[in-house]
Amino acid sequence: MTRLFSYRTKGSMRVFAPFFGLLSLLLVAACTPSHPMSTFDAAGPVAADQRFLFLFIFWVAIAVFVVVEGALIYTVIRYRRRRGQGMPEQVHGHRPLEIGWTIAPALVLVVIAVPTIMVLLDTQTTPEECENGDTEKCINVEVIGHQWWWEFRYPDNGGVITANELHMPAGKKVNFLLDSSDVLHSFWVPKLGGKTDVFPGGGNQMWLEASQAGTFQGQCAELCGISHANMRFMVMVHPTPEIPCVAGRHQPPLVEASTPALQNGCPTNTFDEWVEEQLAPSLPVESEGAKRGEALFLSKGCVACHTIRGNPVAAGKIGPDLTHFASRSTLAAGMLENNPQTLERWLADPDEVKPGNLMTRDAPVYNGELEPLDLADIVELSAYLGSLQ
Ligand code: CUA
Repeated sequence: MTRLFSYRTKGSMRVFAPFFGLLSLLLVAACTPSHPMSTFDAAGPVAADQRFLFLFIFWVAIAVFVVVEGALIYTVIRYRRRRGQGMPEQVHGHRPLEIGWTIAPALVLVVIAVPTIMVLLDTQTTPEECENGDTEKCINVEVIGHQWWWEFRYPDNGGVITANELHMPAGKKVNFLLDSSDVLHSFWVPKLGGKTDVFPGGGNQMWLEASQAGTFQGQCAELCGISHANMRFMVMVHPTPEIPCVAGRHQPPLVEASTPALQNGCPTNTFDEWVEEQLAPSLPVESEGAKRGEALFLSKGCVACHTIRGNPVAAGKIGPDLTHFASRSTLAAGMLENNPQTLERWLADPDEVKPGNLMTRDAPVYNGELEPLDLADIVELSAYLGSLQ
């Protein structure tokens, strides 16, 4: 018996031990708070409440596990069959025990339910400050999910519209009104909180507050089609005098180390300054290449889907609003760092970056209705878009 046991188990252990080792290592790595998608490094009250709930239920579950498994192991060893033992005493039913193990789980559920319902009520209802329309204390942001990018509208800030880059002030509540233009999405910023489903027709709402300034990563958390995983966004939390930004603290990998608007993951201006910049019209196009790019943008059908405020022809609503496009740190919904090389790569073959995107399907230069863009067109278009500071 012993020989058989050691022979078989040792052989398979030798094969599986490294595999299980690697697997546990990978699982543990998922918990590192420094990861941009980690929920353990809470940077706001909603995320902190959600982390508290997770840890609370985790430790309750550990306690239940230890008690149940401990009782099981004790019983198995204490009452195991012994040599020369006859038939053990046969029993049926034990009322006090049965009542006990019915009440105990109910009590555990009550203990879990109380904080869960409190956090749910707190995070799922519009905060008072946001209902009063006092923009000093809370601003509203409309979030519109699209396959596969995010649109953010700021009705309380002059109607600014951005794509894939959410801006919010530190230390202030932001109330999100969630809507979708097509299918179900889910709005989630792991370090700030979430996630709430985004329905076509709207109706869902959630609020977040960032108690730290910096850059955070967001992600669609509801399977919404082939490029669901590519539906990301950046959150820029602007510092205030009370809440300065700590360099590099939450910087997602794609966010450039330094641009005039961003230094080591820290927005350099305040939220109000950002709003002012976004409300201003784009600078007039100066270089020859950019001017030719602008002409291409008008003639190649781009304007049917994209808005560039200040350009009366570019008023399409289907694709991302590209006003001040060059001020954004990423492109293609957080897939690539925003620079001339990546923009050219995107324009040359959008499907290579984001499979299934609507631009490849519907834009005349990609679906064959118009002559495709050649290299010179791509460079000029990139120069034009890159000039939209
Ligand atoms: Cu949108 Cu997944």
